[in-house]
Amino acid sequence: MEKTSSPLLLFHHHLLLFLVLLLPISSWAAIDSTTNYQTFIKCLSNHSTPQHQISSIVYTSSNPSYPTVLQSYIRNRRFNTSSTPKPLLIITPLLHSHVQAAVLCSKLTKIQLKIRSGGHDFDGISYTSSAAAPFIVLDMFNLRSINLDTTTNTAWVESGATLGELYFKIASTSKTHGFPAGVCPTVGIGGHIGGGGYGNMLRKYGLSIDNVVDCLIVDVNGRVLDRKAMGEDLFWAVTGGGAASFAVVLSYKIRLVPVPETVTVFRVEKTLDQNATELVHRWQFVADKIDNGLFMRVLIQPISSRTQKGVKTIRATFISMFLGNSKQLMTVMNRDFPELGLQKLDCMEMSWIQSVLYWANFDPKTSPNVLLDRTYAADFQKRKSDYVQTPISKTGLESIWKKMIELGKTGFVFNPYGGRMSEIPAAATPFPHRAGNIFKIQYSVSWEDEGVEAYKNYMSQIRELHSFMTPFVSKSPREAFLCYRDLDIGITHNGKDSYNEGKVYGLMYFKGNFDRLVRVKTMVDPQNLFRNEQSIPPFPAKSRIYRRK
Ligand SMILES: Cc1cc2nc3c(=O)[nH]c(=O)nc-3n(C[C@H](O)[C@H](O)[C@H](O)COP(=O)(O)OP(=O)(O)OC[C@H]3O[C@@H](n4cnc5c(N)ncnc54)[C@H](O)[C@@H]3O)c2cc1C
Ligand SMILES: *[C@@H]1O[C@H](CO)[C@@H](O)[C@H](O)[C@H]1NC(C)=O
Ligand SMILES: *[C@@H]1O[C@H](CO)[C@@H](O)[C@H](O)[C@H]1NC(C)=O
Ligand SMILES: *[C@@H]1O[C@H](CO)[C@@H](O)[C@H](O)[C@H]1NC(C)=O
Repeated sequence: MEKTSSPLLLFHHHLLLFLVLLLPISSWAAIDSTTNYQTFIKCLSNHSTPQHQISSIVYTSSNPSYPTVLQSYIRNRRFNTSSTPKPLLIITPLLHSHVQAAVLCSKLTKIQLKIRSGGHDFDGISYTSSAAAPFIVLDMFNLRSINLDTTTNTAWVESGATLGELYFKIASTSKTHGFPAGVCPTVGIGGHIGGGGYGNMLRKYGLSIDNVVDCLIVDVNGRVLDRKAMGEDLFWAVTGGGAASFAVVLSYKIRLVPVPETVTVFRVEKTLDQNATELVHRWQFVADKIDNGLFMRVLIQPISSRTQKGVKTIRATFISMFLGNSKQLMTVMNRDFPELGLQKLDCMEMSWIQSVLYWANFDPKTSPNVLLDRTYAADFQKRKSDYVQTPISKTGLESIWKKMIELGKTGFVFNPYGGRMSEIPAAATPFPHRAGNIFKIQYSVSWEDEGVEAYKNYMSQIRELHSFMTPFVSKSPREAFLCYRDLDIGITHNGKDSYNEGKVYGLMYFKGNFDRLVRVKTMVDPQNLFRNEQSIPPFPAKSRIYRRK
C-alpha cells in the first residue's frame, strides 16, 4: 500500500503543488500593492519641505476626516454608497509643488491618479473607479484663487474655484463684464473648462473654452508649463478635450466678455392643451437663428395635468436670457417668435449677476454671497446627451411626448445653438459640435428614493428614451457632449491602452478632432499615466512603431 502511489494520492500531491504555487502569487500581489502604497507615501514625503510637510495634506482611509473629505465633493448620491469604490488616499494640494509631487509619485508607483475639482462629473469618474486597481484622488478644492486684471479684462482662475466664485468676483469688480460658463454655481472650473463648458451666453460668446487665452498645467514629467511652454497642440487639447487625459490643470486664464448693465429673463410654461407641441415645433426654426443675445432654453417634462384629473401631459418651459432690456426683447420676440405670445409682464429686467442668481434658482434679490456657498443638495442623477440637426416633425414630437409620459420621469433640456457657435470652426477646439447643430438635448432624471427598484427603473427609463430618440438625432457618429459624461457610451475600459474602445466614445464626443487628440496624447503621455474611464487613448505601441517607419 505504501509502495504504490494511488491515483488519488497523486492527485492530492498535484493539488498541493498547485496550491503551493498559487499561494505565493496572490500574496505577492498583495505585498506588491502595499509596497507601492508605501513607496507612494515615501515618495511624497521626499517632496516635503521643512516649511511644509506634505503628509498634512494626505488622507488615508483610516484618517477620521477621510469620509468627510471624500463626501464634500460628491455631487451625485449614486456614488455615495458603501459599495462605491473608494480611493486609497486623498491628496489635497495647497501648493503647485504638491501637485507636481503627486504626479511624479503616481508615475513612480503606477498608482492611478484621479483628478477632482468641483466633483460634478455626472458619472463620478473624478472620485470613483470602475477598475479593480487602487487609485488616488488628487482633490483640487484648496487651489481656488481668482486674480482679475481689470486693465486687460482677463483673469487667472485656479481649477478648484467654482463658477459661483468666479461670477461673484467678476460682479464685485465690474457691472459690465461676465463670463460665458455654466449655470450651476458649484461646478468646478477644472472639469468645466477642461470639457468645454457652456451657459446661457453661448449664442453670443461661444463656450467657456472659446474665451480661454492661457493655462498652467503639471505635465506627465511633473513640470509646470504655461501655454508657450506646453505648445499649441497640448494647449488645444486641455481646453475642451477632457484635460484629465493630458495633464493636471492648475489654472486657466480667461477673457471676460462685455454684458449690458440691464439684462432680461423670462419663463413661460405651456402644456399640451396650450399648444406646447406647436410651440416646440416652431421653436426649432427660430431659436438658433434669432438675435445672438437671446438664449431660449426649453425644459420638457411629463407632469400631471392641472385641469384633467388622472391625466398626464407634457409641460414645455421656455426659460430665457436676453442681453438687453425688455423693450428690445419684446421687439425681437414680436418679430421672430410671436407664436409664444410673450408679454412685457413676463419679462424681468435685472443686472447680469442677478440673472446668474435667477438661473441658479435663487430669488434675484438674494445677496450674491450665496454664490460662494459650496454646499449642494445632491440627489440621485443620471444624464445623457444628443444633438439635433434636422427639426423634429410635429408627429415625431407627439410620439416622443407619448414615450415620455409612458416612462414617467425622464425630462429633456433643449439648448439652442447657432450664433457664435456656428461661426467657430469645428477644429478650432476639441469640441466639434458647431455649425449644423440646431440644439443639444440633455436627458435628465433625478430621484430621492434610495431603493434598488427605483435605481433600476430610472436608469433604464433614461436609456430607453435615449434609444427611442435614435431616428431624431445626429448619426454616424451619434454625437455627445463631454461635460454631460455618460459611461453608457462605448465600452468602459478605465484607461487600458485600448485604442479601439476609446474610439467609440472618442468619435461621439470629438468627431474629427479625436485623431488630433490621440496624436497629442501619444506625443505627451505615451505611457498613459493620465487615464480614466473615458480618457483619450494613445496609439497602440505596435502602430506607433509602424507609423515611425
Ligand atoms: C448640477 C450640475 C449642473 C451642470 N451645469 C452645467 C452647465 O450649465 N453647463 C455645462 O457645460 N456643464 C454643466 N454641468 C456639467 C459640468 O460642466 C461637468 O460635470 C464638469 O466636468 C464639472 O467639473 P467639476 O470640476 O465640477 O467636476 P469633476 O468631477 O471634479 O471633474 C470632471 C472631469 O474633469 C477632470 N478634471 C477635474 N479637474 C481637473 C483638473 N484640474 N485637471 C485635469 N482634469 C480635471 C476630472 O478628472 C473628471 O474627468 C453641470 C453638472 C452638474 C452636476
Ligand atoms: C526618497 O529619497 C531618498 C533620498 O534621496 C531616495 O534614496 C529614495 O529612493 C526616495 N524614495 C522615493 C520613494 O522616492
Ligand atoms: C453622503 O452620505 C453621507 C452619510 O453617509 C452624508 O452625510 C452626505 O450628505 C452624503 N452626500 C451626498 C452627496 O449624498
Ligand atoms: C393654438 O394655436 C392655434 C393656431 O395654431 C390657435 O388658434 C389657438 O388659439 C392656440 N391655442 C392656445 C391655447 O394658445
